[in-house]
Amino acid sequence: MTNVAVLASGRGSNLQAILEAQRRGRLGPARVRVVVSDHEDARALTIAREHGTEAVFLDPEGQDREAYGQALVELLEERGIEHVVLAGFMRVLAPNVIRAFDGKLLNIHPSLLPAFPGLHAQRRALEAGVRFTGATTHFVTEEVDAGPIILQSVVPVRPDDTEDTLAQRILRTEHEILPESLRLLAEGRLSVEGETVTIKGEVDVPTVPVLVPEVTP
Ligand code: GRF
Repeated sequence: MTNVAVLASGRGSNLQAILEAQRRGRLGPARVRVVVSDHEDARALTIAREHGTEAVFLDPEGQDREAYGQALVELLEERGIEHVVLAGFMRVLAPNVIRAFDGKLLNIHPSLLPAFPGLHAQRRALEAGVRFTGATTHFVTEEVDAGPIILQSVVPVRPDDTEDTLAQRILRTEHEILPESLRLLAEGRLSVEGETVTIKGEVDVPTVPVLVPEVTP
């Protein structure tokens, strides 16, 4: 078993997908031990409690980024956390957190990175007139929404799409590639060289088209 923390600021639908995958035995050895939020009223905290998972509000008020990061690292280390998933965590992590969990921190972003990093990725994809966008899971590095890419799902943009309809279509694919990326990480099937992630064995994402950077037997 490997102990996992999920960090989420809001709605928590990706958290829900991870917990659901865990319930169905699709997370490999990964077990979500704690959910941490920087918002006291985040729905993600309610979802965690409903699943019997510890839910912690870590108040960022009055703390600079380093101090908040230090408090977060202590909280995670006290619980023996090995892997950390950012699932809609709307705060840039301090370098001390990234160092403490180097190679063990995942993020999900609603675009085909490196296109449209940062906020409003779906709106910016519409404005740019792209035919396809999607979602990306990647290792977290100090640069925001960068870092070696694990999985990408590809989502078509329809002529009548609004920001909301496009976001929903992307979100459904996020719910598959994020739990699967966590499973691959927890099973020790990811290796990183430079910017390239090599995946050992099969990737199991039944209903979304996924671009896999490289798969070895
Ligand atoms: C998702 O679109 C994710 O890609 C982005 O923030 C959103 C979080 O949604 N990083 P939810 O809280 O998981 O529903």
